[in-house]
Amino acid sequence: MDSKFRVTIAATLAVLSIILGLLNPANKTVSLFAPSTIPGSHDQLHKAEIIQVTGALGPESLAFDPNGEGPYTGVADGRILKWQGPALGWTDFAFTTSNRKECFRPFAPEMEHVCGRPLGLRFEKKTGNLYIADAYFGLQVVGPAGGLATQVVTEVEGQPLCFTNDMDIDEHEDVIYFTDTSRSFQRRQFMSSILNLDKTGRLLKYNKSNKEVTVLLDDLAFANGVALSNDRSFVLVAETTTCRIVRLWLHGPNAGKSDIFAELPGFPDNVRRNSKGEFWVALHAKKGLFARWILSNSWVGNTLLRLPLSFKQLHSLLIGGKAHATAIKLSEEGKVLEVLEDSEGKTIRIISEVEEKDGKLWIGSVLMPFVGIYNVH
Ligand SMILES: *[C@@H]1O[C@H](CO)[C@@H](O)[C@H](O)[C@H]1NC(C)=O
Repeated sequence: MDSKFRVTIAATLAVLSIILGLLNPANKTVSLFAPSTIPGSHDQLHKAEIIQVTGALGPESLAFDPNGEGPYTGVADGRILKWQGPALGWTDFAFTTSNRKECFRPFAPEMEHVCGRPLGLRFEKKTGNLYIADAYFGLQVVGPAGGLATQVVTEVEGQPLCFTNDMDIDEHEDVIYFTDTSRSFQRRQFMSSILNLDKTGRLLKYNKSNKEVTVLLDDLAFANGVALSNDRSFVLVAETTTCRIVRLWLHGPNAGKSDIFAELPGFPDNVRRNSKGEFWVALHAKKGLFARWILSNSWVGNTLLRLPLSFKQLHSLLIGGKAHATAIKLSEEGKVLEVLEDSEGKTIRIISEVEEKDGKLWIGSVLMPFVGIYNVH
């Protein structure tokens, strides 16, 4: 290392340590970097009720079976759990690998490629089968009784999937739309994928009748949540790094064309349709001043990744300090209908999915040890 470079690093570190100090929730000047509140939002999500996921972390996606039971959720140690109500709590339902001897720690990112990391979950209503997007093992399926899931898709165009993330099922045409977030980064490197402004994500289609996998959209910046419209005329895919939702038309005059469905004030994770055909988008975090700077200059993220910063510090820079929760409801046309926040992260934080069922919002998080339940009215 030459001395000039050393001085640059030292100066950058000094600036960063000041910023990190300011981002510390204990610091009163935190508002300097914290993302602003969203105009018209209801800062109400702190009223959510919490269900602890005992002994586990990161209930990323939530799904109810065709009988309305659950929710089911995938957690960081690779298990898929089923919520059986307050008396029975969470019980083991399914696994994406049988090799689970070393999979007992609630949070061990270095073991994810062995234990699996189930993300997006969707039940096929007509069969009761649960489809699982496992970040490491691809698309899998397990029957209504649970147990060990079987592989459905592991590769596309002769290359293994790298970071399978979410899906939706078209039961009429028997096809599954799913995302491979990146070709270069695995799930545990998600921060690197974002800070590098990686654009190797894809939206894929699996046809159950001929078992073919096709690439529908390529070059996406962190392809994440997937949701079909009520009439199946289009499919949405969340592009986390660019903070937007892309729409791909499947039927009608624009079939095959894609456009921007919504620009969001933060980083979208999963997208879920409610019974009215509206979409709930969970934001991992809002986009603050620092995130804007990182996202508009590729060298900033690259430099940050070379510095001796911990995951916590990088994450704190990206989310603007204090963890918070933001859920956005979009109309079928992509208009913002409602914004709900827990802006100070009093009860829930870093949310990954909002699933509306019977007047309640069930809220997941990829990092927290709990599920939130919020009464809509
Ligand atoms: C799925 O494959 C079958 C058999 O090749 C074909 O007839 C059908 O059109 C395909 N469906 C879609 C939605 O691509």
